[in-house]
Amino acid sequence: MLQENDTEMPGPAGVPQRKMTYFVPKSDNSNEQVRVPNVIALVGLPARGKTYISHKLCRYLNWIGIKTKAFNVGEYRRKACNLEEEGENEFFSPNNARGQKIRDEVAQLAINDMGKYLDNKEGEVAILDATNTTRDRRKLLMEFCKNLMHDPPFRVFFVESVCDDPDIINSNITEVKINSPDYKGIMSQEEAKEDFLKRIENYRMQYEPLDEDYDEELSYIKVINAGKSFYVHNVNGHVQSRVVYFLMNIHLLPRSIYLSRHGESEYNCIGRLGGDSPLSANGLLYAGKLREYFEAEDLDDFRVWSSQKIRAAQTASHLKDLAGHTEFWKCLDEIDAGICEGLTYEDFEARYPKQFAERDKDKYHYRYPSGESYEDLVARLEPVIMELERQSNVLVISHQAVLRCILAYFTNKNRDDLPYLKVPLHTTIKLTPKAYSCEVELFPFPIKAADTYREKPDQKQ
Ligand code: ATP
Ligand code: F6P
Repeated sequence: MLQENDTEMPGPAGVPQRKMTYFVPKSDNSNEQVRVPNVIALVGLPARGKTYISHKLCRYLNWIGIKTKAFNVGEYRRKACNLEEEGENEFFSPNNARGQKIRDEVAQLAINDMGKYLDNKEGEVAILDATNTTRDRRKLLMEFCKNLMHDPPFRVFFVESVCDDPDIINSNITEVKINSPDYKGIMSQEEAKEDFLKRIENYRMQYEPLDEDYDEELSYIKVINAGKSFYVHNVNGHVQSRVVYFLMNIHLLPRSIYLSRHGESEYNCIGRLGGDSPLSANGLLYAGKLREYFEAEDLDDFRVWSSQKIRAAQTASHLKDLAGHTEFWKCLDEIDAGICEGLTYEDFEARYPKQFAERDKDKYHYRYPSGESYEDLVARLEPVIMELERQSNVLVISHQAVLRCILAYFTNKNRDDLPYLKVPLHTTIKLTPKAYSCEVELFPFPIKAADTYREKPDQKQ
């Protein structure tokens, strides 16, 4: 058995160790290796989902451990302008020299900030959320990114959203755009819609889509009609390939994702970590009530994904005939507490005080000896997230630590907060994706359950 002062911290069998770095040799041929900063630049007319894509990509890349920040040029413009005078479509006309000048200036400001962010190594990826609809603007961006003042120069990937489906554009305008700060409290919704349509036409006059021949040297993906088809060109490096894979898996259809821990287990009742114990009497009661909840939800194309632990499978068994499919995923099993499996938190502290303190210091990165860390969990859950992105209505029945990771992805929580998110027993969490965020609803069931939450130590009263 590992002793308290043993230093070896092996990962669990079969869990790939995360390596989020990607290297290129430095040009002076020294052996020193450096990280390549990446810029992802959106391209497209207004209301083509560019901000939506930026938010989603930013959330995904941060969650998998690639530090990313989005720079929205619209926000720079709103700071620089008087909205009452300059939020309207005339400002975006190609014939409006003053508007053009301000737009060029604010784009440059955003590009400069993005450059500082990458040069200062604050993050690895910057997303430029702007229309970038002209060749001149894209050329300016390329020249900025390839400039040798950046060490190393930035790798650029364009994500162009092309959409001519009038239903999608109409719903984007009526559900999102007319409520933007450009219009809210400034004009009526009807006026805003009319004005926004004119804004699109102003951009269309200057729009030069990415072109197979002209842009031969660039790296890009065209997302056509919200993912109906794609054109992918010249993908270069790890980040770009992750981005392509992600974009090819997301969809816009309305649906909800439900997260539930298994019903209370026998181990929960006595405060023990991990293990594979069955449900308690109250846990069984919860499983029955969960079924009633989903009968009332009456969902189309409903799937249940459960971990392979007995307590989760028992909970899922109550829903068998309600779901089109029930699948049991090993990667939904609870965090492997290694040498601490089966201990209570008190046992853990008494037996391995140094380990216990280490975990409190940095719970996200702490790996149980012979077990896993939250960081390991995120790595093993990535395929689950990707598959959730592809699906319709899914209930995930899993465990405290695993569901924290999934919840953190959908609610954009950082690594410090992730291991302390509250995912109580006998509570169903309903997640409904919205334009730029995810609605979170909690449904606590009135069935007694153990409290397995351990506060962040400095928050203890
Ligand atoms: P603007 O240039 O005015 O900032 P935008 O292109 O950034 O516009 P968004 O604000 O992101 O547009 O529009 C949000 C809407 O776009 C959401 O309702 C979302 O459902 C939808 N959307 C997301 N992805 C796409 C896509 N690939 N094509 C079309 N619409 C999309
Ligand atoms: O106590 C229930 C449980 O699911 C354990 O099996 C697991 O080790 C623990 O919660 C994870 O929570 P934390 O990371 O806060 O210890």
